[in-house]
Amino acid sequence: MSRPRRELRSVTGVEQVGPYTLVRLDRGGLDPGRPGQFFMLEAPGRVLPRPLSLCLAPPGELAFLIDAVGPGTTALAELGVGEAIHVFGPLGNGYRLDVPEPLLVAGGIGIAPLPYLAEALGGAPAVLGFRSERHAEAAALLPGADVVIDPVLVTDAIDYGRSILACGPEPMLRAIRARAPHAQLAWEAPMACGYGACYGCVVEIDRHLERLCIAGPVLCS
Ligand code: FES
Repeated sequence: MSRPRRELRSVTGVEQVGPYTLVRLDRGGLDPGRPGQFFMLEAPGRVLPRPLSLCLAPPGELAFLIDAVGPGTTALAELGVGEAIHVFGPLGNGYRLDVPEPLLVAGGIGIAPLPYLAEALGGAPAVLGFRSERHAEAAALLPGADVVIDPVLVTDAIDYGRSILACGPEPMLRAIRARAPHAQLAWEAPMACGYGACYGCVVEIDRHLERLCIAGPVLCS
């Protein structure tokens, strides 16, 4: 398991991907970790950093896909090339890669960890669900993926006989878990510290309370 580090890293690129923003950072001494692990990114002007899973790890860079839905994620999406932010990670538990016939599944911004995951698996089929054509432009990050758009549900387009590795909104994850109890699912929760100290990320999964930052974000029964 890679040791997390905290470093001040510079923005090397910012790209729009549909309604999302891909922010590339100079990797420095940070290890990209396992797909599904996350990093705490300092959000300029905000007290708390934001947890983001790694989207891409090209040589010398770490890239994060951001959905600007609040003040913190908006501040991150508005970063400019050359600006620097503190980055801490990799943190948490990622996906297990030693599974037969993997199938990657995402809903919306849940696509974020899948490009790095697909690369680590040496390629795998993927099914992506989006709420609009514009959001579906993000599928360009995962060439060859099958794409469905509302009102078609991604959960109706999955081969449940495969090993499912998924990320997306909670109703999607719960629907997958109901039909594939051993699916690896990346859950989401607000996080303040990222390493188990604040209890701000406690979630109830199968009647157990878990600190998602250390038990997850990828959980599997
Ligand atoms: Fe602090 Fe999980 S984010 S305990």
